[in-house]
Order: sequence, then C-alpha cells, then structure tokens
Amino acid sequence: MSRRLWTAVGGALLALSLAACSGEGAGGSADRSKEKPSDLTIGVSMPTQTSERWIADGKSVKEKLEQKGYKVDLQYAGDDIPTQSQQVDQMITRGADVLIIAAIDGTALSSQLQTAANAKIPVIAYDRLIRDSPNVDFYVSFDNYKVGVAQATALLVGLGLQNKDGSKGTEAGPFNIELFAGSLDDNNAHFFFNGAMDTLKPFLDAGSLVVKSRQTRIEQVAILRWQQETAQKRMEDLLTSSYNDKSRVDGVLSPYDGLSRGIITALQNAGYGTGANKMPVVTGQDAEIASVKLINDGIQSSTIFKDTRLLAEQAVIAAEAFLTGKSAEPNDTKTYNNGVKVVPSYLLPVQTVYKDDIKPALIDSGYWTAEEVSTGRAKS
Ligand code: BGC
Repeated sequence: MSRRLWTAVGGALLALSLAACSGEGAGGSADRSKEKPSDLTIGVSMPTQTSERWIADGKSVKEKLEQKGYKVDLQYAGDDIPTQSQQVDQMITRGADVLIIAAIDGTALSSQLQTAANAKIPVIAYDRLIRDSPNVDFYVSFDNYKVGVAQATALLVGLGLQNKDGSKGTEAGPFNIELFAGSLDDNNAHFFFNGAMDTLKPFLDAGSLVVKSRQTRIEQVAILRWQQETAQKRMEDLLTSSYNDKSRVDGVLSPYDGLSRGIITALQNAGYGTGANKMPVVTGQDAEIASVKLINDGIQSSTIFKDTRLLAEQAVIAAEAFLTGKSAEPNDTKTYNNGVKVVPSYLLPVQTVYKDDIKPALIDSGYWTAEEVSTGRAKS
C-alpha cells in the first residue's frame, strides 16, 4: 500500500501504522523495490538559498532523482531552525520514503529523526552531519578535515611560507594573520577549523605567523549561520582593535567564500588593495561564482572546490540502495561519530583552486562557464 494513502492520518498514528507494515529495523533499509520509482518520494531538506552551493546541491539532487523516475519533495529552510524542523515533519506526513537532509543546526532534528525511524524512513545526512541521534543511517560529505588543511595550506602558500608542493617557501615572516570559523552548530565548522589549526600550529609556535588579536579559539572566531555581514563586522572590529597602530594584516583564514567576501569588503573599506597597500591573502571554500571572479581578478587568493554534482550523485546512490533494501556502501566507517554512534560515511575529495586552477578545475569540468567567471554571476 502506498504511503501517500496514510497522509490524512495523524502523525502518531501514521508512525505506528508504517512501523507495523514495513517490519524492518529502526531507519535503515526499507525495501520498496516492488514499488515503481514514480510511487516513491524522496524528501530533500536544504538549509538556505542565500548561498549558491546549496541551490546547486538542491538542484542536482532533484534532477538526478527525477531522472530515475522518483518524486522529489525539495524544501529550503531559510536558515531558520524551526522552519527546517517543520519542513521535515511535513515531508514525513506527506509520505517521504527516504529523507536527505542538510541540517542548519546539526543537533536540532532529533525528534523529527525519531518520527522518521518509527516510520522506517531511512535518513541520509547531506554534507553536514546530524548529531545526537541514533537515527542517521548514512552520511555523504567531503573530507572536511582536509578542507581545513587545504585552507591553511593555501594561506601559507599565499604568504610564501610554503610552496604548493609542501616545501619551504621563500618568505620567513613574521606575518600577521586573523582567523575565522563557521557556525558552531555546524559539525563541519569544527572539522575545518581543526584541520586548519593543526596545519598552522608549527608556524604559530615558531612565530612566523602571529594572530595579533590573540583570538585563536573557535568560540572566539566563529560566525553564526555563516553570515557574510557578521564576518564583515568582525573584520572591521579586528582592524579597529588590533591594527590601529600602523601594523597591517597579511592574511585571513576564511572557511567559506561568503565570509571571505565580507572580510574583503571590510579590508577594502579600510584601504587595503589600493596602491602599495596590498590585499591580504584571503582563503575560502565552495568556489562560489562571485568569489571565483575575485580570485580571477587577484583579490581573493584561493577557494576550496567541492564538486556538489558528485555529492548529489552519492546521495542518490545511497537513497536508491536503501529503497532496494540494501545498505549504502561507505568508504569511511571511523571518522564521523555523531555523539551517539559512528555514522557510515561516503567522503569525497576536495581541490584547492588558485587563479591558475580556475580553467582546468572549474571551467573545463563544466562547473562554471568562462562567461560566468568573467561576470561573477551564475547564469542559473
Ligand atoms: C559546508 C560548506 C559551506 C558552509 C556554509 C558547510 O556545512 O560544508 O561547504 O561553505 O556550510 O554554507
């Protein structure tokens, strides 16, 4: 019997009924292979449309599932936690057969996930790990620790302390740097920061890098909800509080292109990037088109490219495995403990993009066109 027929039934009754009909363990695999893909719905919950990457993620996942004949219930939550909880609840009531979720706050969906488990709906955490719940069946993401290592390495390369091949660079420092991290409620923010700090530590210890503000703990440098404006404000405050003595900031570790653009605006407003006042080395992540243009124009130094098309593909492979009564195939079963259990994961590699890499990595692969790079706007 199709789940959709139960839609009118109240939430609790629905959960009980489904648990009784499918007879499988909590979450996990729910064999729907006897049903046509067109009778199956995949709920896809994305955090926000303010960042291009999540728009691209939603679009890719939807297209790939629809190509296989599945129905897709795609929702964006406007970076609002109650909205996301409500949207996931609604997906369950509307009869989702699998859920793919990129959480805003990794700890805020436990009750929705319990309802999903009661209804035997497998849950795939998409890029961001959902924490503190046993009801996460699979995780698809990138190697997030390596993202942080790559960002810090790009900072070292930009400053000339290290060469791209890892050998010692021509510069010795000391260089003044400032650190930024993502939203503390996003598990990834911690992985990025740890990877970066492990890489920067020897240089900080040796004194070739100096964090002049002394703000080096993630709690001091995190930007709630990854907001560009908040990053701009923090950079402005740092310039006022720590660089009002004619000293200059030489580099900024930024974990996401949106934050990098806020940081760059603050730096430009303070006169950096004009004449002899060089723009500091600013890192990034996601290869957002506005930032790729900034890299092409020599303003932002680098970004980390994570091919969201490949991530979407892995999410679809995992969803199909669950729908055919199998388990999705992980390539990592150690790294991602969500506080309750280690979630089997499929992790994709990442690539650092400096100016010279834009063509081979982003244009030749069809991620952005040459025209989009030169205008800094996605054609949609
Ligand atoms: C993602 C990053 C993204 C950030 C802000 C993280 O969870 O892994 O790719 O830059 O969220 O949207």
